[in-house]
Amino acid sequence: MPFNKAIAMLDSGVGGLTVVREIFKELPAERIIYFGDTARMPYGPRSPGEVRRFAEEIIEFLCTQDIKMAIVACNSASAAGLPRYQGTHEIPILGVIEPGVRAALAHTRSKKIGVIGTSGTVESGAYEAAIRALDPGVEVISRACPLFVLIVENNLTEAPETRVVAKEYLAPLKEAGVDTLILGCTHYPLMEGVIGQVMGEGVKLVSSARETAREARKILTSLHLLNPDSSREEGCRGGHRYYCSGPPAPFEEIGKKLLQQRVKAYRVLF
Ligand code: DGL
Repeated sequence: MPFNKAIAMLDSGVGGLTVVREIFKELPAERIIYFGDTARMPYGPRSPGEVRRFAEEIIEFLCTQDIKMAIVACNSASAAGLPRYQGTHEIPILGVIEPGVRAALAHTRSKKIGVIGTSGTVESGAYEAAIRALDPGVEVISRACPLFVLIVENNLTEAPETRVVAKEYLAPLKEAGVDTLILGCTHYPLMEGVIGQVMGEGVKLVSSARETAREARKILTSLHLLNPDSSREEGCRGGHRYYCSGPPAPFEEIGKKLLQQRVKAYRVLF
């Protein structure tokens, strides 16, 4: 039955697992097939064309599995070409930018929204365009934070140096007085603690991961593809599959910490 098929997700590394975590909460009966392109991360400094090519390659691979939806759980890959991926496949393909934008607009009172992301995402202007399309009166202050991805992938979020780096990156956003900050990279919710401390209590952090999971539920419901067991408390018992292009061990370690369950990853080389 189509509703028994899995939801596929992709990212350059472990960042998209923040979306998996939210899918587990929002749609506990759904089965996940995840791909982390750890051998080619970070995507942020690469050209949009290259990131698009990688994402297309991974989506092709994921489409060989039994899937009913794909989530591009990576802002850089969403910014580089979501409409293209959507135009070439029959299954619904979601990105992470629009859901986060809607949540940020619902929250802001000062109409000053900060966006942090990779260089690729910030340079693409995808967030500004999505925000202005819905509310042209909003001021958007964006900042690339390229070291954050490396901090997360190397399990250094608790290191004292991380706070120093965060203070440096976030200073212009604090000075601008944003009341809402979009974590425009799926790795960043893993640094929510330090980012929140630096920005202070008055600033709402918007994780596109949570919003994307809600959006996935809406789309699956409207297409009658939602697993009917989604309301069952015990959720989907296993059956999830994780792939990565680099060595599995570091991926498995961070995955286990983040998802609070054993993560066995299989290496796939392109
Ligand atoms: N997690 C990704 C994103 O949301 C990619 C980070 C990277 O590889 O630079 O942008």
